[in-house]
Amino acid sequence: MIHIPKAEYSRRRKALMAQMEPNSIAILPAAAVAIRNRDVEHVYRQDSDFQYLSGFPEPQAVLVLMPGRVHGEYILFCRERNAERELWDGLRAGQEGAIRDFGADDAFPITDIDDILPGLIEGRDRVYSAMGSNPEFDRHLMDWINVIRSKANLGAQPPNEYVALDHLLHDMRLYKSAAEVKVMREAARISAQAHVRAMQASRAGLHEFSLEAELDYEFRKGGAKMPAYGSIVAAGRNSCILHYQQNDAVLKDGDLVLIDAGCEIDCYASDITRTWPVSGKYSEEQKAIYELVLAAQEAAFAEIAPNKHWNQAHEATVRVITTGLVELGLLQGDVGELIASEAYKAFYMHRAGHWLGMDVHDVGEYKVGGEWRVLEVGMALTVEPGIYIAPDNQYVAKKWRGIGVRIEDDVVVTKTGCEILTKGVPKTVAEIEALMAQARTQAA
Ligand code: GLY
Ligand code: MN
Ligand code: MN
Repeated sequence: MIHIPKAEYSRRRKALMAQMEPNSIAILPAAAVAIRNRDVEHVYRQDSDFQYLSGFPEPQAVLVLMPGRVHGEYILFCRERNAERELWDGLRAGQEGAIRDFGADDAFPITDIDDILPGLIEGRDRVYSAMGSNPEFDRHLMDWINVIRSKANLGAQPPNEYVALDHLLHDMRLYKSAAEVKVMREAARISAQAHVRAMQASRAGLHEFSLEAELDYEFRKGGAKMPAYGSIVAAGRNSCILHYQQNDAVLKDGDLVLIDAGCEIDCYASDITRTWPVSGKYSEEQKAIYELVLAAQEAAFAEIAPNKHWNQAHEATVRVITTGLVELGLLQGDVGELIASEAYKAFYMHRAGHWLGMDVHDVGEYKVGGEWRVLEVGMALTVEPGIYIAPDNQYVAKKWRGIGVRIEDDVVVTKTGCEILTKGVPKTVAEIEALMAQARTQAA
């Protein structure tokens, strides 16, 4: 299994601490367990910020960073070992494991946090935390601060500054290291293989969930614990619903099927969309729309390189799509004016991409000081133009209605442009039709 090496977590903590003010403390909670129903829990997924700094996979844990603390800068509160609970629910690192396997300088039982943490906070000038994103944890933090305040008459000094950690931490997360790119390449490789498998299995009469099952099979076989987000398997007119999740309609001959799905490896997402004909051959109209979206994506790739800004790729897709829609007669008028009036949004209503990383819609600012962010080496993003012709669009000829096409790949900015991580899945009309034809021949 490819994963983030331990040394990298230590590097990240050091890099964050180097940016924190002197005499400060950062406090981050692990993700809570989410109940699905009664005694059943959702599959546990660690909080991305917590994971980024610790690699510690357990719930009920709190990470504390105290730059300059002589007795150790990295403290982890976590569950104690417990033979009875471990018999039912699985092994725990315990405090020994937190130090031995996860690099903590000091570790305490999570049940002791109310007694210990106020003492650690006391005397520090500034507290960094993810304010506002976890109300329950915010309340705990205020309780700990109030313990210190209540002892002010004994000389206890509560901190005076409370700062959102996001700005520092999320900027770090935006730049992917070599190890992160390696993990993302692996997630992309498995997801590409999943899309190939779904293409090969595609047949009229199956259901959307039949193809979802093919995806899930490859994800799990590749070692992914779960998809990075709910898989979208949208056939026919469902392809015009951007975040379709029902995945239970029948696949019909003559329809397209749009699949937007990617797995997660070591908490890093991949995010791929392909759109193909259920029965293996694009109709003339489907092909025209498909090739237009593909041309838009190619134009976007050309705008992803250091020193180009975030919006250039999106602008390129808008130009290509608007021009193409006019050529096909789906929009009428002057291309420049149609772009200015955003007429293309009737068909292309989302942006060309988003940052990609531990969160599928990853953290990181898109604008800095009011200006679009300039791309730099190591930033990862998706490139995903689409055209969706609503089934009830009265302004276009019937033959176009209900066609929805999106093509999405994942890229990392390199010195000279970008590396496409998701190349392992066919993309041109010829490549897709050939792959599907071959699968049919083999099955026959
Ligand atoms: N799958 C969500 C997205 O493409 O943004
Ligand atoms: Mn995406
Ligand atoms: Mn997607």
